[in-house]
Amino acid sequence: MHTRTPIYTSIRKYAGDVKLRSHMPGHAGEHGFTDHAFQQIAGIDVTEVPGTGDLHVPEGIIEEARVLLAKAFGARESLFLVNGASSGIHTLFMSLSGKQEKVLVPRNAHRSFFTGMVLSGVEPVYVPCQISSDYGLAISVRSIDIMELLAVNPDITTVFITSPNYYGITCDVAEICQKVKANNDNIAVFVDEAHGGHFPFHDNYPRSALLSGADAVVNGLHKTLPVLNQGACLNVQDEERFWKQIFPTWSMLTTSSPSYPILASIDLARSLMMTEGHSILEKALELSKKYRYKINEIKGLSVFAEEELSNVSGTAEIDPLKILISVRGTSITGDQLAQILRQEYSIQVEMAAPDYILAMMSMFHRAEDWELLYQGLKEIAGKYPGKKSKKKDIPVPPEPQLHLAPRTAFFSNTTEVEFSCCRGKISGEVIAPYPPGIACLLPGEIISDGMYEYLEYLRKQKTPLYGPNDSSLSRVKIINS
Ligand SMILES: Cc1ncc(COP(=O)(O)O)c(C=O)c1O
Repeated sequence: MHTRTPIYTSIRKYAGDVKLRSHMPGHAGEHGFTDHAFQQIAGIDVTEVPGTGDLHVPEGIIEEARVLLAKAFGARESLFLVNGASSGIHTLFMSLSGKQEKVLVPRNAHRSFFTGMVLSGVEPVYVPCQISSDYGLAISVRSIDIMELLAVNPDITTVFITSPNYYGITCDVAEICQKVKANNDNIAVFVDEAHGGHFPFHDNYPRSALLSGADAVVNGLHKTLPVLNQGACLNVQDEERFWKQIFPTWSMLTTSSPSYPILASIDLARSLMMTEGHSILEKALELSKKYRYKINEIKGLSVFAEEELSNVSGTAEIDPLKILISVRGTSITGDQLAQILRQEYSIQVEMAAPDYILAMMSMFHRAEDWELLYQGLKEIAGKYPGKKSKKKDIPVPPEPQLHLAPRTAFFSNTTEVEFSCCRGKISGEVIAPYPPGIACLLPGEIISDGMYEYLEYLRKQKTPLYGPNDSSLSRVKIINS
């Protein structure tokens, strides 16, 4: 059963059988492309014709593939997503009642949460994040904070958290689900598990959110599995909610021309993970153990590991394939290290910040790939020894003060004012220092005294910002009163 790949098999068959494609897409198979790489993809880039099904109609090969996908993830129902994990997050927000209900969300959520809230009109109640003071990163949310907020906001209908975060660190989803449900079984727990699509396939990786008791989980499959960019899935446990709310919402938000190469790559990856996933992940785990240790032994570098987890409450496990490396013991910054890795070693890491770099390893990286990274790091760290200036305390943004729900704020009229005039006003734009790009201010939130001072700090530091019209923050967009 696991070796079956209904979508992939039918599009391959179609590509072999049909001599003339007198239908969309306009490239007519390989004829429309001059580039060889595109000609190869074009063969399987088909549309809805007899034999290829219709993604929006749960029958035939689509239904078979959907059922297989659900089985692989341990879900009652699954949906293919062809516009990334973002579209699953939008779907979940839009599947709520549409009556400005309250949803508890973490502040370190991906920006698709904000879009989801604008689309759906829900009102967020933000749960504070636990910060790793060593790395200056928002890492986790705690069940205790969630329960406190539920107690003072009895009208919250849904808890929508992120786990793992971008750095591969999970929250204690099982404890959160257990406590929320024990308090009120009608509250749904949704999880953005965009970076954890591989978790269900090996017990020594973090426990998946679905197995931990979540009602609906979004997996960004393209991030960690052999799936084309944008390929993701939405896994749901509550069948009634699925058929009444989630499926119609997903269909409404999903293109009528889904990419069959993306769908087929999900189909193939699911089959691979069910048949060989465990052994592939096992080998990757061994490599990870060996090289996390070796990198940690390099003078000047240290790898985020279990010891750091115990310093940040609310955390549970670490994805062994995310290698978060502190450079504090060297005389260079993470950005400089990443630049040298790229320029002199042809190695590109996922992200870099002043104090760290993040290498995202895949289960398909071979021993020589890990060795390449290790050797590069060792040589560079050896060339830049010594302690750089002592760790500075990075100010943490104050808690957000919501004045208008995201949807109301999004559709409000705005004006740009001089920075000095924005204190006490309502923000009309997103301001997110990056990396990692977590918003300190969202449209509809009050620029309190504390926030004004924090923005002033960002201006002085010339911190790169995502979101504002004027990235120097000389002028700030506010909502007209
Ligand atoms: C935690 C998290 N959630 C959701 C997303 C959105 O995923 P996608 O790019 O597949 O839409 C991202 C993207 O990086 C992410 O890091």
